[in-house]
Amino acid sequence: MDIEIFKTKDDLNKAFTDRLKEVISKKDTVTIALSGGSTPKSLFDYWAQLPKGEINWSKIRFFWGDERCVPPTDNESNYKMTKQHLFDWVPIPEENIFRIQGENDPESEARRYGELLNHELETTVGIPSFDILMLGMGDDGHTASIFPHKIMFWHSPQNCMVANHPLSGQQRVSLSGKVINAAKNVFFLVTGENKAEKVKEIIEQPDSAKEKYPAALVQPESGNLLWFLDCEAAKLLPQPTSPS
Ligand code: 6PG
Repeated sequence: MDIEIFKTKDDLNKAFTDRLKEVISKKDTVTIALSGGSTPKSLFDYWAQLPKGEINWSKIRFFWGDERCVPPTDNESNYKMTKQHLFDWVPIPEENIFRIQGENDPESEARRYGELLNHELETTVGIPSFDILMLGMGDDGHTASIFPHKIMFWHSPQNCMVANHPLSGQQRVSLSGKVINAAKNVFFLVTGENKAEKVKEIIEQPDSAKEKYPAALVQPESGNLLWFLDCEAAKLLPQPTSPS
């Protein structure tokens, strides 16, 4: 895995965007699975203020790595967050947005979305493969909506499954580990001091971390795994001589 540490959110957002542009430059269309929660807001706000034409949004087809089982108008919805911080500000054709329909019955939506991925994405050894998979990490070491208390969900044979938040019980539809690790490029976007402990453990003791934290199981077959960290999330790592 590659790790890049940034002093400011702006530096991080710019570097992430440069990687996105690199991937876009090589293909006619690009499929990206977005992460949810609060971390992506800063990146989406950065994308929203880019000069018109800097990114050819019409080349990108947007999916999600997970979604809360709530309507798209609910403040808990990852789609709603993305709409407020990105889709309301940049010209993305409606037909390029493939949201997980949180308002549907969770089990049937997990099946529907899993089928949709088989239909819409290229596959790697029969598994739907995103060009870019963007992930966040919870301070408990979860990623997408696979949590430590149900780490075995990572190994689901399905493309998507229904998970529950360990504290709130909130139902979620999430990609499984096999789809996550079939992505051509996995970009982990992790910021904030509350993530520092798990970042250290996952990066420095991967074997034991893999027993406990779903985020440690992210090891794409492609080998293209890049961690974008701010200084706070990286504060417990050996500090590089000259952070980028
Ligand atoms: C979600 C996300 C989840 C998120 C982490 C980090 O639906 O909440 O997909 O995996 O990336 O929980 O969340 P924060 O960015 O809010 O810390």
